[in-house]
Amino acid sequence: MKAPRGTQDIIPGVSEKWQFVEKQLIDISRRYNYKEIRTPIFEHTELFQRGVGETTDIVQKEMYTFKDKGDRSITLRPEGTASVVRSFVEHKMFGSPNQPVKLFYTGPMFRYERPQQGRMRQFVQFGVEALGSADPAIDAEVISLAMNLYRELGLQSLKLIINSLGDKESRNNHREALIAHFQPVKGELCEDCQTRLEQNPLRVLDCKQDREHEAMKTAPSILDFLSDDSSAYFTKVKAYLDEMNIPYEVDPNLVRGLDYYNHTAFEIMSDAEGFGAITTLSGGGRYNGLVQDLGGPETPGIGFALSIERLLMALEAEGIDLPIDESLDCFVVALGDEASIKAAGIVNTLRNAGIQAEKDYQERKMKAQFKAANRLNAKFVLVLGVEELQEGYATVKNMETGEQENIVFDEIPVYLEQNL
Ligand code: HAM
Repeated sequence: MKAPRGTQDIIPGVSEKWQFVEKQLIDISRRYNYKEIRTPIFEHTELFQRGVGETTDIVQKEMYTFKDKGDRSITLRPEGTASVVRSFVEHKMFGSPNQPVKLFYTGPMFRYERPQQGRMRQFVQFGVEALGSADPAIDAEVISLAMNLYRELGLQSLKLIINSLGDKESRNNHREALIAHFQPVKGELCEDCQTRLEQNPLRVLDCKQDREHEAMKTAPSILDFLSDDSSAYFTKVKAYLDEMNIPYEVDPNLVRGLDYYNHTAFEIMSDAEGFGAITTLSGGGRYNGLVQDLGGPETPGIGFALSIERLLMALEAEGIDLPIDESLDCFVVALGDEASIKAAGIVNTLRNAGIQAEKDYQERKMKAQFKAANRLNAKFVLVLGVEELQEGYATVKNMETGEQENIVFDEIPVYLEQNL
């Protein structure tokens, strides 16, 4: 039996990297005063239809949707924002005196995509959402948080792309221009784009199939259609980024694959050599209409998400080793039944004292137990031989210096605490 296509097991040797990275992401989020939210892995399908948007690839092609035994349509979440906003409304967080409400989350997401390097059907997103503020400073904060997550892990080959998708007025005008632009070549576009042109012409710009079509390169830019307010907003976001020394490129073709965005949109790419075909590490943006679309009061919001899979790929591409401690505090070597029982007691005492401890469970010979201790990178080895057992002490060997001392049983925890 094999794991389903597009999924993976994260086994020891790799899981430590995940733990390290996840802890780092949480630590930084706390520094920015974001608090954790955990939402269900499955939701009512309607949430994503309304939240992510009927015309997106995610909703049209990629959702894991099924009927449960109560005949309800259920979907494994393809992303986190819709769920967070649903929860924000359901728990009336808009009424909290602490505004904006700043939340972060980590967990598996599911998209039925064509798997390839960096594209999984189950992947883990880490994301943040800030709800309740329309201040461009919070856009810059979210972008700075995203950039710092990567930088603090040591990544350097990063490129930040930003764009503004404007407000309703800007988008309507841009929409008209897009229709006028693509209509004459409609027949040359892929079938999906022909529908997109009718339903949501902005999605045409995001098409992977028609990317090279001549009309794509000359498509009208949203930036030429920004209303005065949208334009002023975008200028302020850029001023904040400048002040924070965060370099960026403006790309008017950055449209993002989800329908809820307006105003600021951004993606962070890796330009490390050998990173692979998919270079987007994370993406996000502002979604000022989403809370209302999902039944809440008019509330602005902005956030972003990254996948840990791609983050680890980027670390690998840049040759960054994470400082993972692969050692064991102490291994107890014991020969024979009596010593093994004593060893179990000592190991138990040490673990209760907060010290990592291991013993042999394979009835190995003394030499093989030492080998096992070495394989586990034990810092100390405790030996319980016949003499030790009779006299009530263990020979404690510091594996780094080779020094040995006899320590009576009761004093072992304190001795190790002092020397570890
Ligand atoms: P997204 O661009 O769809 O945005 O996904 C965000 C990130 O998730 C991507 O940049 C990528 O790192 C990762 N990702 C997406 N699909 C896959 C996949 N199949 N395999 C591996 N990684 C993947 C969102 O999901 C929005 N909810 C982000 C957001 C939050 N916007 C506002 N707040």
